[in-house]
Order: sequence, then structure tokens, then C-alpha cells
Amino acid sequence: MNTLNHLAIIMDGNGRWAKKNKLPRTAGHYKGVEVLRSITIYANRLGIKCLTVYAFSTENWKRSAEEVGYIMSLPKIFFSAYIKELMDNNVQIMIIGDREKIPAETMKVIDEAIETTKNNTGLILNFAFNYGARDEIVRAAKKYAQDYKDGKVDDLDEESFNDYLYTAGLPDVDLLIRTGSEMRLSNFLLYQLAYSEFVVIDTLWPDFNNEVLDECIEIYQKRKRNFGGRDETESN
Ligand code: FPP
Repeated sequence: MNTLNHLAIIMDGNGRWAKKNKLPRTAGHYKGVEVLRSITIYANRLGIKCLTVYAFSTENWKRSAEEVGYIMSLPKIFFSAYIKELMDNNVQIMIIGDREKIPAETMKVIDEAIETTKNNTGLILNFAFNYGARDEIVRAAKKYAQDYKDGKVDDLDEESFNDYLYTAGLPDVDLLIRTGSEMRLSNFLLYQLAYSEFVVIDTLWPDFNNEVLDECIEIYQKRKRNFGGRDETESN
């Protein structure tokens, strides 16, 4: 059985779901928030240690001001509705990404949730929010260069580079699920996904549910992970 400590999800398809249902795009994001709530509770029940979700990328600022404004209001919608349930389920909140450009009132809500849940020991719900993997890697390199200059560190290897990433301390990503059928990474966790298994499904994020997650996990469990080595029991 493959371990599943860290699940990452690219929650794609909110806009297409809204269009399919003749609703504004914002309604797709709203439904997406409700789905995220139930998947968080379910993933925690399954014993998954960390769930990283791509909620807003550094490229998403290119969307209309109305849509960006709405996505920036989602943390308030999410936490005011579900913080109690998250606490009851021992869920801890974390964020990765560039905080600087996020509106102060949005950051305030997120920081409150981080503070409220900081002693919880169940699933870590990690929001990639204003996140871009290339940006993360460049920042990490700059930080290392500074530490080197200051004489704080010596050599760098794959393991110690991890400590300079936003995801420092989190387990490696085991499984990446992308909903909405697109076969791309969209600048998500480029370093952390090096040996992850990918499952891309047609289901749009607002239609995702516990059963679909079970199906994805079943696919993952059938994969043979050898991390670049080879299975010595195979004959050729
Ligand atoms: C991609 O769908 C989805 C997003 C850019 C936003 C995802 C955010 C959530 C589901 C909620 C996050 C929750 C919090 C609390 C921040 P799309 O709009 O690109 O869909 P499309 O490809 O069909 O147009």
C-alpha cells in the first residue's frame, strides 16, 4: 500500500461548472468552497496529514477585477462558515505564497484562522494563495544566498533546499489530483512534485466529492512507486 501523507489538489473547473449551470463564474467558486469544506473533513478522516490546495496562483491576477475581488473574499466566506467545524475536527490552517500582494483584510482573516487552529494536530489544510512555484524557488535561492553570505550555512543539498521553500517541514507530496481534465502543472509545487503520482480527472471541482476522491485514491493505490529505481522482482 502506498502511503498518502500529503495530497495536493489543483481545483480546476469552477468557471466551466458555472457556465454549464448558466450561473456567473463566482457561483462556481462559491460551490468550490463548499466542496473544499467537505473534502477537508473527509481527508482528515482518512488520516491524510496534509492537503495542499491551489486556491489562487500568481497568474490569477490577470482575471477580471470582479473575479479577483470575489476570490479574495473567499477566505472570509470559508472561515466564517466553517472555523468551528475545522476546530471540532482538529484541522490546522496554513498558507503558502506571497502574502505581500494579498489585500490586508483578506490576510487578516487568514492569519486569524492560522492563529485559532495553530495547536490542532489533525490534517493541515494548506492554502496555496497567491502562489507560484517559480517565484517560490527564486525566493528560496535568494534566501539561501543571503544566509551563505552571512555565514549561517555552508553547503546546499536537495534536503536542505527544502527548508527554504514555503513548504518547509511538510512531507513530500504523494498524490496530485487535478480536476477539470487539463494536463498541466500551472506553476504549482514544481520542486515538491518531483516524485508525486498524478491523477487528472474530467470531473469539475464543484462536482468533486468523497466518492470521486476515493476513486482517485484507488488509482493511486494501484500505482507502483519506485522513485526512479526499478522493481527487482520484475524479470526484464
Ligand atoms: C480554478 O477554476 C479555480 C480557482 C482559480 C479558484 C479556486 C478556489 C476555490 C475552489 C476556493 C478556495 C477557497 C478559499 C477559502 C480561498 P477556473 O475558474 O479556472 O475554472 P475554469 O478552468 O473552468 O474556468
